[in-house]
Amino acid sequence: MKKINIAIDGYSSCGKGTLAKQMAQNLGYIFIDSGAMYRAVTLYLLENNIDVANEIEISKALDHIQLEFHPSKENNRFEIHLNGRNVESLIRELHIANKVSFVAKISTVRTKLVDIQQQIGANKGVVMDGRDIGTVVYPDAELKIFMTASNEVRAQRRFKEMIDAGKNVTIEEVSANLIERDSIDSSRNDSPLTLNDTYHLLDNSHLTPNQQFELAMSWVNELLD
Ligand code: CDP
Repeated sequence: MKKINIAIDGYSSCGKGTLAKQMAQNLGYIFIDSGAMYRAVTLYLLENNIDVANEIEISKALDHIQLEFHPSKENNRFEIHLNGRNVESLIRELHIANKVSFVAKISTVRTKLVDIQQQIGANKGVVMDGRDIGTVVYPDAELKIFMTASNEVRAQRRFKEMIDAGKNVTIEEVSANLIERDSIDSSRNDSPLTLNDTYHLLDNSHLTPNQQFELAMSWVNELLD
């Protein structure tokens, strides 16, 4: 059976990961959360007291950062390891979310992570979500989906996710973080989040996870038929 790469880009917290996971599971593909890599780099910088605005120090630090995805035992997905340590939960903290978009603006960071992402997808069969997957990482991805949802829906979803994970946050903090990240991610010079006509647009403000999955799989089936 022909294998394709699927790029899912879009704004913060609009369910890209949920969709990517379902699609990968259904197709027997690998799901990679590229945002986890930017978050893990940010965690390393904060733990080592490196200022997220100091591009020179950050570029040097990259040589000491090793990122790997390992399958998790419980729930059939890949979890990110930073220098051999599973940091999947730590990178979801709000203090990481508050800094990650500053780190993701830095070109040396992007070059390192894009290189890893391209190696992972070299043999196809990957669903990757992020901001620049269909524009920079896999510009030739057979299917590209751009996801969006209203600010209110996104903030509510992320707030619930964080509360369920035991994190101590308010909806106002979560909402402010999403708005700030969207603005930085869309306006940076290197690989900004941009919608172009190679994407299928998917606004899921009023769709259930199942409905959005059915829609996305109809696009896959058109390609694989
Ligand atoms: O919170 P959400 O799951 O929506 O974001 P994420 O996918 O975990 O990504 C966190 C941050 O990493 C984004 O706000 C971007 O600044 C950056 N990022 C990026 O620049 N390029 C990517 N391909 C993925 C994430």
